[in-house]
Amino acid sequence: MDNRKVGMWLYQNGGGDKIQKKIIKRLKEREIDVLPGINLRDAIAKNSHILWKDKKLDKLDLFFSYNAGEQTQYQMYLAKALNRVVPMINSFESLELTEDKFQTSFLLRRHGIQTADYKLCHRDDTHHLKTIIKKWDKMVYKPTDGWGGVGLTKIENQETLDMIMPFLNQMDLRYFYVEKFIDYDNTDYRVDIVDGQFVGCYGRKASGTDWRTNVTSGGSVFVREPNDDVINLALNATKVTGLDISGVDIIYDRKKEEYVVLEVNGIPAFATPVQEKMGLNFNEKKIDLIVDLIDRKTKK
Ligand SMILES: Nc1ncnc2c1ncn2[C@@H]1O[C@H](COP(=O)(O)OP(=O)(O)OP(=O)(O)O)[C@@H](O)[C@H]1O
Ligand SMILES: [Mg+2]
Repeated sequence: MDNRKVGMWLYQNGGGDKIQKKIIKRLKEREIDVLPGINLRDAIAKNSHILWKDKKLDKLDLFFSYNAGEQTQYQMYLAKALNRVVPMINSFESLELTEDKFQTSFLLRRHGIQTADYKLCHRDDTHHLKTIIKKWDKMVYKPTDGWGGVGLTKIENQETLDMIMPFLNQMDLRYFYVEKFIDYDNTDYRVDIVDGQFVGCYGRKASGTDWRTNVTSGGSVFVREPNDDVINLALNATKVTGLDISGVDIIYDRKKEEYVVLEVNGIPAFATPVQEKMGLNFNEKKIDLIVDLIDRKTKK
């Protein structure tokens, strides 16, 4: 019997290249061949096939796509078609869901999972925002498809809202998505899950007076042990999204005295070499679980 064939597109910075080598080696031991570096940017679709460097991607047994930094509209568009005929990790459907903050919050809340209170309205329905700021006191405006804390705007009161409204209107937004600002200690938990199992956890702390924990916003990573509530919340949120691999961001709401899911990430980074030295030691476990998962999903 021919070896199983898996396509792969994994980020190469921050130690990603070494992770890729390890995954390829372990899959090889299970007689699974890997075709790495499949950037759908260079692929085309032609009639019933999706072609990349003369290779028919539709013949793959699975496509492991893991490169958040280089995910463009074209790649997503092709991935959507590819996933109709080839299993993907993560599935296109789940990835698309979690790339959208509103769609994710909506589904999580429907399943009784605590998130920040939110409101979505048409860009012309500004009166909704005015009524909600009175009730909430502080809120956060979020682009539904943003990343790295970019574009997030904290709205402290009615006056700030009035002030930024002309800017928001100018920005040609399709909709307003706002969340209640959660009173928390400016630290979060990032919980990694693979295949329904807890992999590891670390924390992030916002720098100085910033309220955003993102590393790109100056936040710093630290070793952090999660309790059972945090782990279970992450497991449940992941299950709802259908992600095989996820990184769930959780904060503790000091007013409501409960943990809240802020975000579910479909391409959570492995610990970088520097972070590994700090004591973030979940990479091996994560690799093992991913290899098991690929093996199981490609069993014929
Ligand atoms: N409702 C909220 N209340 C208080 N702080 C918030 C709230 N939403 C977000 N934050 C802070 O801002 C940070 C960034 O928010 P969020 O994760 O939603 O967007 P993002 O980081 O830009 O998106 P992505 O993680 O996809 O890159 C969070 O990590 C958190 O520290
Ligand atoms: Mg985030």
